[in-house]
Amino acid sequence: MNEDPATLTGRERFLRAARRQPVDGPPVWFMRQAGRHLPEYHEVRSRGTFMEIVRNPELAAEVTCQPLRRYDLDAAVIFSDILVPPAAMGMEVEIVEKVGPVLNPPIRTRDDVERLRAFDPEVDTAFLGEAIKRTRAELGDEKAIIGFCGAPFTTASYMIEGRSSRNFEHTKKMLYGDRSTFLELMDRIVDALVPYLGWQVDCGADVLQIFDSWGGSLDAVTYRRDIAPSLERLIVAARGLEVPVTLYVNGGDHLLEILLDLGPDVISLDWRTDPRRARELARGRCALQGNLDPCVLLAPPEEVRKHADACLDAFGDEPGHIFNLGSGIIPSLPIEGVQAVIERVIARRTGAS
Ligand code: CP3
Repeated sequence: MNEDPATLTGRERFLRAARRQPVDGPPVWFMRQAGRHLPEYHEVRSRGTFMEIVRNPELAAEVTCQPLRRYDLDAAVIFSDILVPPAAMGMEVEIVEKVGPVLNPPIRTRDDVERLRAFDPEVDTAFLGEAIKRTRAELGDEKAIIGFCGAPFTTASYMIEGRSSRNFEHTKKMLYGDRSTFLELMDRIVDALVPYLGWQVDCGADVLQIFDSWGGSLDAVTYRRDIAPSLERLIVAARGLEVPVTLYVNGGDHLLEILLDLGPDVISLDWRTDPRRARELARGRCALQGNLDPCVLLAPPEEVRKHADACLDAFGDEPGHIFNLGSGIIPSLPIEGVQAVIERVIARRTGAS
């Protein structure tokens, strides 16, 4: 592999940054970079439901590549969803307009957990492997491909609630009231996710990201005792696949020390965490990704550039920063805002004019 920081491909820049090796500047990509902020996504989406697009390798690869045709990004994130594994475990999963994800029937009892099935990713999620292969065929070796899954807690919370939730009442009722059933569900999810991530790597994913989008709803003591063990089992298994593993916990500022102890290669910060504090706590143990507030991109481009500069300065020059937003791109973000951030990150790379 190319060792000269001045002539890196996007994929090399990404993988080197994830391993805290010197680069010419941070690689850049965005969570939810494919999707509803792009008019070309709406065109594809008009041909089917969200889950139909996800299960169609040709269309999923097409949507994955769309943002890379428009923007100079270093990585593609495969177009799929964290709810694909619950569907493969036997739940009915739909993304309903104006409601969001709906899963049926919700998991509430030990019997419900027992009814979930183990699945074979090569068979039951063959479409995902094929989408990764098609994406590699289009992008070649110059871009990193990111595979992903939901963290056990976030996946469990969708399975238990049956939809997005503000207070996670059913999930917490099970966690605090029927802990052994809750932990059994978490274990089954990890058992399913390990081969699922392995399948993504077999098909060409260069890096894996684990999304704990709702982990921040728990206090640190509960997170360390009841959530961290299964998450650690997933991270250790994923790292065994010999690709860098990124952990993203939305609203996880109060959990940062616990997350560092889990040993991911990269921690993805949301915008509420001060990158300088994260750097200090990390003490060189992992790379950091993030963490501009997505709503900054609603401001005029000159303001966007200033915020991008402040974000880059906060992470500093130490190797091991992957530029990203603090959460996914939201559908209302203007293309000019996204463009302005990317241009700013690239302009600050060494050797860039
Ligand atoms: O570009 C990418 O990042 C890759 C694709 C991706 C999607 N979802 C596509 C998607 C990824 C990585 C995800 C992860 C995901 N899915 C998360 C974790 C990330 C985060 O934001 O915290 C979560 C919580 C989900 C569950 C989920 N799926 C939600 C909340 C929604 C949106 C529902 C809505 O109506 O707002 C989905 C559907 C979904 N996943 C869409 C996209 C582009 C929109 C579907 C559509 O076209 O209607």
